[in-house]
Amino acid sequence: MKVRRIGVLTAGGDCPGLNAVVRGVAKHALNCGIEVLGFKNGFDGLVKNQFMELDSKTVSGILTRGGTILGTSNLANPFNYTLAPMGSPEEPKDVSSLVLHTIKTNKIDALVTIGGDGTLSMSQKFIEMGVPIVGVPKTIDNDLSATDFTFGFDSALSVATDAVDRIHTTAESHHRVMILETMGRYAGWIALRSCIAGGGDICLIPEIPYSDDAIIDAIEDRQRKGKTFSIIVAAEGAVNEQGEMAVKAKIAGSTDPIRLGGISSKIAAMIEERLKVECRVVVLGHLQRGGTPTAFDRWLSTRFGAEAVELILQGKTGYMVALRGTEIISVPVKDAVSKLKRVDPNGEEVRAALAVGTSFGSSKIGGACGI
Ligand code: F6P
Repeated sequence: MKVRRIGVLTAGGDCPGLNAVVRGVAKHALNCGIEVLGFKNGFDGLVKNQFMELDSKTVSGILTRGGTILGTSNLANPFNYTLAPMGSPEEPKDVSSLVLHTIKTNKIDALVTIGGDGTLSMSQKFIEMGVPIVGVPKTIDNDLSATDFTFGFDSALSVATDAVDRIHTTAESHHRVMILETMGRYAGWIALRSCIAGGGDICLIPEIPYSDDAIIDAIEDRQRKGKTFSIIVAAEGAVNEQGEMAVKAKIAGSTDPIRLGGISSKIAAMIEERLKVECRVVVLGHLQRGGTPTAFDRWLSTRFGAEAVELILQGKTGYMVALRGTEIISVPVKDAVSKLKRVDPNGEEVRAALAVGTSFGSSKIGGACGI
């Protein structure tokens, strides 16, 4: 079948590199004589038939821009749809038929959906309903098992690492314990890698349950060695040995129903109480999602965008582009959404961190020579 017109959307939380993918998709398609419609605000644009035509002028100059020119939403789920204000009694409904109608009316031959696990799960449902979709994996959390990297992660990691670097000098001057809280949901990649790259002292991640006692031991051990400050990097999803997480809010109807946050304040209060040392917290939050993508993310996003169009030209829909080593490959979307990629507590990365003296706030991990 000759491909004449494709659609593209960005859904879920934004991250640096979304515009670079949109540009990669549009430029390659336009060069092949294919028209490109950019649907607005994720799946909401398909429900409401709202789009903008992407021509070479629209996508010019967006490679380095953070955010997404198309807008995004992590509330617009066509299978459980309500965009009523928070707290409204409106019952969510299945409006997937409106999406099918938009695709048919606009004569869309294939759709590129750029998003994380929530977006890809919705995409899989539409694939099963016969919609030709190619997925592109996005998330700063880097928690999709089917790809070595999602774009956005490297940019978030560089923000987090810069923060670890910066809090070192102030922690040292004031002899304080500084706790940096990173994003990452149920995976500890941003916390672990920024802690390794920035030389943090204690790293709390969801994959290695922490205990208050082990955190205190690690700080006291540093004090005995004459270190008057400590840097803790805590992933927002860190869990204690009782399995408790710091949950800030529950959001009904969202593809991401739990908003995490508050681990740093919880740990700071505990340390101040037990050690009588001054603690300060830095919650990095959405700084990790904003701004210019790194060179790595621009490189990856551009390749992902171009390859998504290649797959459409080959009739290979139902697949997601992915990075394996340095190669761009494709994997069925259904396989991509089935498993989260999390840090291996016994893996080499954790052992390397232990080897250089990083504590994971757990007495169950680390032993002779750290490892
Ligand atoms: O999945 C990306 C992410 O930034 C997570 O790391 C974080 O928990 C969540 O999204 C925050 O979402 P929101 O922008 O809705 O607060």
